[in-house]
Amino acid sequence: MPCKRFHVVENAVRFSFMTGTEWWRTAVIYQIYPRSFADANGDGMGDLAGITGRLPALRDLGIDAIWLSPFYTSPQHDAGYDVADYCDVDPIFGSLADFDTLVRTAHELAIRVIVDLVPNHSSSDHPWFQAALAAPEGSAERAHYIFREGKGEMGELPPNNWESVFGGNAWTRVTNPDGTPGQWYLHLFDTTQPDFDWDNEWVRAQFRGVLRFWLDRGADGFRVDVAHGMIKAAGLPDYTAPVEGGSMGGASVLEPGIIAEWAETAPYWAQGGVHEIYRDWRLVLDEYPGQRILAAEAWVDPLRRVAEWVRPDEMHQAFNFAYLETPWSGPALRRVVDDSLEAFSAVGAPSTWVLSNHDVVRHASRLALTAENLQGHGIGPKTAGLPDPVVGLQRARAATALMLALPGSSYLYQGEELGLPEVIDLPDASREDPTWFRTNGERYGRDGCRVPLPWEGSAPSYGFGPTSASWLPQPAGWGALARDAQDGVAGSTLELYKLALRLRREHALGLGSVEWRGGFGDEVVHFRNGGVVVVANTGTEPIELPAGELLLDSEPIAGRTLPGDTTAWLRA
Ligand code: GLC
Repeated sequence: MPCKRFHVVENAVRFSFMTGTEWWRTAVIYQIYPRSFADANGDGMGDLAGITGRLPALRDLGIDAIWLSPFYTSPQHDAGYDVADYCDVDPIFGSLADFDTLVRTAHELAIRVIVDLVPNHSSSDHPWFQAALAAPEGSAERAHYIFREGKGEMGELPPNNWESVFGGNAWTRVTNPDGTPGQWYLHLFDTTQPDFDWDNEWVRAQFRGVLRFWLDRGADGFRVDVAHGMIKAAGLPDYTAPVEGGSMGGASVLEPGIIAEWAETAPYWAQGGVHEIYRDWRLVLDEYPGQRILAAEAWVDPLRRVAEWVRPDEMHQAFNFAYLETPWSGPALRRVVDDSLEAFSAVGAPSTWVLSNHDVVRHASRLALTAENLQGHGIGPKTAGLPDPVVGLQRARAATALMLALPGSSYLYQGEELGLPEVIDLPDASREDPTWFRTNGERYGRDGCRVPLPWEGSAPSYGFGPTSASWLPQPAGWGALARDAQDGVAGSTLELYKLALRLRREHALGLGSVEWRGGFGDEVVHFRNGGVVVVANTGTEPIELPAGELLLDSEPIAGRTLPGDTTAWLRA
């Protein structure tokens, strides 16, 4: 059942701010996780009306666009990354009319709206998968997904040895309508997320329809989920994991070398065939006015390979996870900035930068973890060497001040502008991430970065919604981090973000370049971008700032002394 097209009469607002240079080359894009941003109806789950009501706060922050994590019809086994209808809104988030209001309001505030597209897999509740289950082996319906015979005498063994990203086997055996055991289907993620067969033209045609459905409704583009996984190596060969014990061996995605080796060698990541799909999508986007964009979530390594996703006829942006994974260290940061600028500029694309998202430990906690306990998929009460919140926040502020001075486009994750830490001590009973369940609690999963936002320090649920309900419990003490407790308060994290975003715009840093300067030793990242000189001290020894008017300091500094874990911007 193809998506019903919806014909929007393009409004004047869209074009009043949508002309001129290619906006996405310099944009600051703010990720909204709809479950946790703002709840208008008081059921404890964020919703689209809640987002619309809070958009003025994002205009005041100074961002250019929002990216909405999935709000589509979904049984929510993976927080909406399990889509049961690509062309509708789940009732827990509202309706298509709420989406239209959100887009209209955002455009009136000169904020573009990017939606999340989840094309690697659907929900097992999707009618296409249900039809595949009901249809016989070898049918056209089954061919939309990846069904295979099992190995072993009775087909009792999975077709190959692939493991799910969330832990456990990547194959599940189905039961035939007559009760006998049947074929197996592939799910690189949860059992409720069957992978599509993207070699099938019918699948491709359906997704062209999905793109048009949201573009017609005014979406400014798509963040493409698992954009490195849609094509699998022919014959689905076995894979020997680089580390013991699984596809990621239970290891952290932030452990140096792990993601690199896995991303390079697994027969389901970064297969050359994916690019044909994006070239096709690019043609669809280019039919629309107003510079609609595609942004790849591609956990690929090294950066020059990520750049393949943003060649001129493919996507516009790709997330720079190498940057996210870089420790708070001068030499490592200089190297990743150089590598990023070189790799992306070689294909004429802007580099992107990102420090946090809904899948990783918030950087206000992550940057205070030691190399031994870095965890991409969550930390919890029993993690060894828990991060120091004071050190973490100070480094996070310094790291953000560094990131927002870099040329290109930056992504922010909701709540980082409040300095929110990872919530480490969530009660186990409240956890929802499939990673937690599929590893029997061995990996805590990603709930700790998904806790609903505090808006008003003294309101129930800290103003997340009109009641005290919150789908994940908010920590006591978050009142002090609430937006209203920081708004207009000199030195607050929120004011630091606002200042950085305003200066970034005024000095056109997004269009600039990095001209390295030295003079302070290895742990100091020192460069000029146009009219601004940036000094980020990742070490512990204070340094004397060079000459120049102080434009921004990530911590209030006394005189001209820049302490460790602090960043300053000076007028060049
Ligand atoms: C992406 C999403 C993540 C989701 C997974 C499966 O990595 O960012 O949240 O669980 O894809 O869709």
